[in-house]
Amino acid sequence: MTVPPFPVPPSQDPIRPDPGTSIRISVDETEYPGRAGQTIAGVMLAAGLLSWRYSSGSGAPRGAFCGIGVCFDCLATVNGQRDVRTCQRRAVDGDVVVTQHDPLPRPPRAPAPESAAESASEPAHRSAPEPPHPSGPDSPLREGGSGA
Ligand code: FES
Repeated sequence: MTVPPFPVPPSQDPIRPDPGTSIRISVDETEYPGRAGQTIAGVMLAAGLLSWRYSSGSGAPRGAFCGIGVCFDCLATVNGQRDVRTCQRRAVDGDVVVTQHDPLPRPPRAPAPESAAESASEPAHRSAPEPPHPSGPDSPLREGGSGA
């Protein structure tokens, strides 16, 4: 038995892929095309963008890593809302995406002394001279040392 290459002619195939609705989103003021139903990360990946932010610690490039909403590597600001996981947000025509690059927050600084009286009340041991090093030239343990 011979099977023809197209048992059902394409024009009569009941399973026709939906061509989808075209959408456009902007990423950092550049427009990218997509299809309704894609995630924002999907539109960006399809456009060839592999990373759209930098990690806070090392500054390494980040984009979609897990694709399931777990890693938070794909964060971006979408329509003014920060920290959107773009792999979880469905793209809507006209979405405005702005990339985020946030440095790590600095640790709080120790408060400065408010008056000279506070700095004068520091413990006395802080201003005491260092004892001579046991093997130093002035050491009493050293032959010919001062022995004081
Ligand atoms: S890629 Fe991991 S949370 Fe989006």
